[in-house]
Amino acid sequence: MKEVLGNAEGLRNNTIAILEQLYQLRVPPWQLVSPEIAIQMAKITSAINREINIFLDRKGTVLSVSVGDSNTVTLPNLPGRRGSGRLSGIRCIHTHPGGNSQLSGIDLSALRNHKYDLMAAIGVNDEKPEEFVFNFAIITGKDGNGQYTVQEYGVFKPDVLETMFLPNIISSAEKLLAATDDNQKLEQRPERTMLVSLEYGKQDRMWTSEDSLEELRQLAETAGAEVIAKFLQKRPKPDPGFFIGRGKVRDLALYAQQEDIDLCVFDEELSPAQQRNLEQALGIKVLDRTALILDIFAQRAQTNEGKLQVELAQLQYTLPRIMGQGLSLSRLGGGIGTRGPGETKLETDRRMIRDRIAYIKGCIDKVQNVRKLHRSYRNKNQVPSVSLIGYTNAGKSTLLNVLTNSDVYEKDQLFATLDPTTRQLNLPDKRQAILTDTVGFIQRLPHQLIAAFKSTLEETLDADLLVHVIDVSHPLYKEQSEAVYRVLQEVGAQDKPVLSVFNKIDKLPQDSGLLEQLRAIPESVCISAKKQIGLETLLAVITEKLKLKSIEVTLLIPYSDSGAAAKLFEEGTVLSQDYEAEGIKITVRLQASDIGRWEKFIVKGSN
Ligand code: GTP
Repeated sequence: MKEVLGNAEGLRNNTIAILEQLYQLRVPPWQLVSPEIAIQMAKITSAINREINIFLDRKGTVLSVSVGDSNTVTLPNLPGRRGSGRLSGIRCIHTHPGGNSQLSGIDLSALRNHKYDLMAAIGVNDEKPEEFVFNFAIITGKDGNGQYTVQEYGVFKPDVLETMFLPNIISSAEKLLAATDDNQKLEQRPERTMLVSLEYGKQDRMWTSEDSLEELRQLAETAGAEVIAKFLQKRPKPDPGFFIGRGKVRDLALYAQQEDIDLCVFDEELSPAQQRNLEQALGIKVLDRTALILDIFAQRAQTNEGKLQVELAQLQYTLPRIMGQGLSLSRLGGGIGTRGPGETKLETDRRMIRDRIAYIKGCIDKVQNVRKLHRSYRNKNQVPSVSLIGYTNAGKSTLLNVLTNSDVYEKDQLFATLDPTTRQLNLPDKRQAILTDTVGFIQRLPHQLIAAFKSTLEETLDADLLVHVIDVSHPLYKEQSEAVYRVLQEVGAQDKPVLSVFNKIDKLPQDSGLLEQLRAIPESVCISAKKQIGLETLLAVITEKLKLKSIEVTLLIPYSDSGAAAKLFEEGTVLSQDYEAEGIKITVRLQASDIGRWEKFIVKGSN
């Protein structure tokens, strides 16, 4: 029989016997500690009012049992892996009499010094030892001074022991450690990723879950992930705690272990609690579709304004997620989900995040005021404006490039363009227009993002004409087009004049008949931006539409009719105003259809 180590002096024989029996117990390899052992430790602690300490190896064998704190009890001489980037393979679980499960400074330095896999403290409730709570900490890398950094998690209740999947938590910690030990960032190797989608109830979308998962794959790859597997679960409704069913969670945890998966992405927005529970249960970083899209935007933002908007969206997404006490691997290390324009460490203080949100909003307002000035200058110069809109990857940048002979970044990737790009467009009638390429849309675009980008979107959509580029070679082009209209609605631009441009017709099979059908649709043009087919027709239609759109007139509004002047400011784009003896002389651009109502004020010969 192995003996109880440490300060066992004065303990009754039967207490020692119970402690010795702990050596006989086995912890399942996936569990931090079995509830049975934890309860025994808690009971003895409450009886003797001293700390109990056990060391476990990765197989779940109890290596030593001792009495005393984690400082006085040192690691017995045990074989362990101590190589660079490796943890010792041993974890320390100990009790704190008095109920507090926070790890002490001594606990954390023992964790660092011995490179334990993990250090856990069980806070023992003296009245009810079986209702213990626990915290644990892991090493997460090294700081600039070569000191190990640690992260503490908790407070957890005992039921978490049943769902937490320890091997993956330890391998996540080892990966973080290896990355900092080798002085290289995790980002350098693509994160091995699995995707998960849930099909439940009545789907409120036209996309099937498979379609959506396929798009999620493209998104994940755009973010730099290596997608290893996709999983789809069908169940009547999402599980409130884990989103997917618990059995499936365990299957995924094992799969992640076998396939060395670093990241799991869910195709739906998870609640903060679901995300935390899943990270505990899977032991790897867990992100949702929203976080993934935000990450892509964070990588892509080029302009100061774009960066601020993405940071704003990220902070708003993060705010409700920093409250939780659970494991959060998704904010550690590097890689997908941790990138932000400022690369700032995500503060754990909600007030700091709120302050930062207010500050960023102020900055965005300033940048936008400057842009408004530019815009009013443009209006004064009467340059008509055209904005390209469309689903991501529809070919907007390609079209902008061929129409304006420029070289905007175009790539077969989602969200290649993030910040609006403006170029001069020469029209066949020798007039000039301004052509703007906007961010690509996507189904279920995160609402935080739409909110953050709202004013940029509003500005770009405040064009004289919206050219909606649709990739008709995509099997879901109709659904994609609907998704674009939904975003237009969300920013209140649904009534803008829209010209549908069916792009990539070069990819349509000759015999499908689709091209004929498309050509028959009114208010549309079929093109191939890449092969430069149909561009002349497109330009001619754009020119025609811009002619129709608005008329510049000068009105004289008597001072007695101040209501009319105010209305005019609302309805049209005022280009200039002069205060004359008889009234205000206003030069304004009005929709052709509105002109009739202003007839009586129009100065003769002004249009
Ligand atoms: P986002 O930046 O994601 O919004 O994309 P985008 O709409 O700006 O698309 P982009 O112009 O980057 O084009 C996406 C891909 O489609 C690129 O690989 C283009 O070469 C390709 N593409 C664009 N137009 C055509 C076309 O007419 N025919 C074919 N075959 N490919 C095209």
